[in-house]
Amino acid sequence: MILQTPRGTKDILPEDQRYFKFIQEAVERQAGINGYEKIETPIFEYQSLFTKAIGEDSDIVEKEMYEVKRLGEERSDEKEKLILRPEYTAGVVRAYIEHGMKAWPQPVQLYYFGPVFRYNRPQKGRLREFWQFGFELLGADDPATDARIISLAYSLCKSLHLADCVILVNSIGCRSCRPNLKAALKDFFSKKKAVLCEDCKRRLEANPFRILDCKNKTCQKLTSQAPPLVDQLCLKCKDHFKQVLEFLDEAEIPYDLEPTLVRGLDYYTKTCFEVVLKSDLTRQNSLGGGGRYDELIKLYGGPNTPATGMAFGVERMVDALKKQKVQIKEAKKPQIFIAQLGEKAKKKAVNLLDLLQGEGIPARAALAKSGLRSQLKMANTLDAAITVIIGQREVVDGTAIIRDMKEGVQEVVEQEEILDRIKRKLGLK
Ligand code: HAM
Repeated sequence: MILQTPRGTKDILPEDQRYFKFIQEAVERQAGINGYEKIETPIFEYQSLFTKAIGEDSDIVEKEMYEVKRLGEERSDEKEKLILRPEYTAGVVRAYIEHGMKAWPQPVQLYYFGPVFRYNRPQKGRLREFWQFGFELLGADDPATDARIISLAYSLCKSLHLADCVILVNSIGCRSCRPNLKAALKDFFSKKKAVLCEDCKRRLEANPFRILDCKNKTCQKLTSQAPPLVDQLCLKCKDHFKQVLEFLDEAEIPYDLEPTLVRGLDYYTKTCFEVVLKSDLTRQNSLGGGGRYDELIKLYGGPNTPATGMAFGVERMVDALKKQKVQIKEAKKPQIFIAQLGEKAKKKAVNLLDLLQGEGIPARAALAKSGLRSQLKMANTLDAAITVIIGQREVVDGTAIIRDMKEGVQEVVEQEEILDRIKRKLGLK
């Protein structure tokens, strides 16, 4: 038996749960004020859903998907294979079509928060199971909506006090300008073919856009000299992009133009963006990313529906929060600790736990401990505001000792008065 988490996965311990909670609350707050409603899709879905959306020759589809099988099961039909979701957008789009959301008031605005799975070489910031949250806006093509999504990404970072964020923006055009972009890239990279990595030599023919997203250092260096994609856009896409930037300027959202930015997923059209940290500008470690995907719903056979969205990686955000030493203030309710000595006192202690917890007051005891000293030590470790001590004498007298841990003072009260006294001390009365 291997008693450790599988490679590329990790336990999210209470210390990190504080950060997760902090992020989730910010996401929910932003969702609420921007009118997004929550959706949860299955953790596994049919393989074809992802291959169609993300692209047959993308890293995710080629190397990173996990198949889900019942032990001993053989699946003959490729299309019926089940895959652990490597991202959410494909599932959200499936849900949009499956539940006839086109008939809902448009745009439909949905958000999510949950685990996704990608098989890659684990390293700092790259996991095999990680959490994503994201926002999808389906049923609107206006450039203002692209800017709203980017502005939402910015507001989120701001509300999490991640002051170090930069938003990189680009446009990769629509289906009609794609051949021009492809030709320009092919022309540029063909001249450098000798120094491209083996994968990119293959990509040059199949899909030169992928070269721009290559993780190989030499390929990345070349990419920085590649022709800007916006120069090759059709007039409509150029105008769309210009308007997106105008809306961003109007809203005073800081951004950097990144002329060779593409995304590792095939479904994007027009605007795409990534959020990176100034202290780590490598896009391989982006905090979040997204863009427009006007063709995806149609590609699945659904009604023609333009859409845009974005997603962030939660663990990467937690790392950034820690690195930037963002203080997370937890509104923790003061806790009561109940110490007991002897069997009868333990019964009284259990009753008192129920009584306090029933009133919504956090209370704990150490029922397996019998010595007063070790129990008081635990009360200190737990940072209890008040310790109630019930010993043999108190059981006989029908009293309890209430000790204010901060002031270091204690008093004896009748057992019927304990709740009232604690409430007064906590300012609840
Ligand atoms: P993505 O860029 O593939 O986009 O992933 C979004 C974020 O997930 C990344 O920016 C990163 O923070 C995090 N992430 C990706 N891979 C890993 C990993 N191996 N370990 C830890 N974190 C990771 C999407 O998934 C799109 N669905 C975004 C989107 C939504 N576009 C439109 N709507």
